[in-house]
Amino acid sequence: MKLRLSLAAVLVAFVAGCGGSSGESNTPAPASDSGGKQLFTDNCSSCHTLAAAGATGQVGPNLDQLRPGPDLVTRQVNSGGGAMPSFKGKLTDAQIKQIADYVSANAGKS
Ligand code: HEC
Repeated sequence: MKLRLSLAAVLVAFVAGCGGSSGESNTPAPASDSGGKQLFTDNCSSCHTLAAAGATGQVGPNLDQLRPGPDLVTRQVNSGGGAMPSFKGKLTDAQIKQIADYVSANAGKS
């Protein structure tokens, strides 16, 4: 019990110590699940509705209704089609995969 408490104290001190003194304001992009959501917001939300991302675009199909799988999203984002531009070259393959995973996991979920 004592050990746990002091470990917590050390962690708190560590976090507090990292908090703010340096003048650097460039925080690195979080390498987490939120990446797909941010990428969707930046690249797709102007045209597509996806409630999980708070997106209400009306140009393309409503993704909550379409509920595309990751392969369909990947293909569409790479190739474009209809009025949708291709994102190949604008987004990396890894970013497109993040978006595809995010959309297929969240479409129709909220
Ligand atoms: C400029 C507006 C625009 C943007 C930006 C846009 N889309 Fe689209 N999207 C469309 C339109 C329009 C269609 C319908 C295309 C068609 O009729 O062939 C579409 C279709 C789709 C489809 C369905 C494809 C199918 O075969 O049913 C998916 C999935 C999709 N978009 C995902 C995305 C994702 C993910 C992004 C962000 C990387 C994105 N779109 C960005 C306009 C857009």
